[in-house]
Amino acid sequence: MTDYRTLESDARGRIDAAADLAALEALRIEYLGKQGSVSLLLKTLGAMSPAERQEKAPEIQHLRQTVADALAARKAAMEAAELETRLAAETLDLTLPAPEAPRGTVHPVSQVMDELAEIFADLGFAVATGPEIEDDWHNFTALNMPESHPARAMHDTFYFPEESGAQGRTTAQQGGRMLLRTHTSPVQVRTMLSQGAPVRIIAPGRVYRSDSDATHTPMFHQVEGLVIDKAIHLGHLKWTLETFLKAFFEREDIVLRLRPSYFPFTEPSVEVDVGFAIDGGRRVLGGSGDEPGHGWMELLGSGMVNRRVIEAAGLDPDAWQGFAFGVGVDRLAMLKYGMDDLRAFFDGDVRWLRHYGFSAFDQPTLSAGVGARA
Ligand code: PHE
Repeated sequence: MTDYRTLESDARGRIDAAADLAALEALRIEYLGKQGSVSLLLKTLGAMSPAERQEKAPEIQHLRQTVADALAARKAAMEAAELETRLAAETLDLTLPAPEAPRGTVHPVSQVMDELAEIFADLGFAVATGPEIEDDWHNFTALNMPESHPARAMHDTFYFPEESGAQGRTTAQQGGRMLLRTHTSPVQVRTMLSQGAPVRIIAPGRVYRSDSDATHTPMFHQVEGLVIDKAIHLGHLKWTLETFLKAFFEREDIVLRLRPSYFPFTEPSVEVDVGFAIDGGRRVLGGSGDEPGHGWMELLGSGMVNRRVIEAAGLDPDAWQGFAFGVGVDRLAMLKYGMDDLRAFFDGDVRWLRHYGFSAFDQPTLSAGVGARA
């Protein structure tokens, strides 16, 4: 009896004095573990006479319970104390001003693409897309550039390694060698094939050419335009481009000059120049390039879609005709927002992005202005 009492008060004292959770755990093992002193006492019950067991069992059980309770109580107290210290240390002063949330900006290329979609949606154009990893047939052959066509050499194409079996003639079924598309024009073909006619789309996206200097990057952005219908002619093309450029540059005095040109996929082909004036050393779009002190800047390629392209895209060229154009999106952004180095577009320098980027809330809309800056 006294044995148990001594053991109990001894255990209580040590448990209360335990410095930390590890010390407490060591005590638990010492008393209640498999080889613990209280556990061993419980084992002695088996060897006792029934009368003795009847007397001792409740005492030993009581001892075990008391020690277990003391351990639990001390552990709870320690945890509560620890929480108190943490709460005291981690105070949050709600009266302080909120820190500035880090804010990203919308890249000018994304912004310009949104502006284009907005302007052309108003003219009834949908936005179409195509793969950046393209096949030879869609990128070249269907656009009237068969294997031997010299215009292919002008495209500085990134080809994927030739797969065995993919050699030989490129057909619509067998797209031929894979490549990174060199222009957005393959989307013309894909759209006509998948939607038939009539068509009224723009197709903005990335294009790739193995070319790199101050004004060329191996990846850049274009937007393709395509209209296919019954009686479309060059007048529609000129009006569409004029309307688009006036809305985009937010100036009524945009003047275009159409020059005969050559693209395999358009016939006739038209190079479009836009008039500019020099103002404080900078070129500012607007006015005729023929005025004194003015000039013409080459802006985009376009033309009436070649009937061979319409045919390759599965439509009857005697029933359908239309125009197409292709513009550099990065170029449009530079002209509108005044950047002078194309390479900076793709450096990911946060200072540049902060300076030229747009607020995510600055959605271009025709009513609020497609060029509004927050
Ligand atoms: N695909 C041509 C280029 O990348 C541009 C273009 C598109 C020209 C459509 C005419 C018609 O240079």
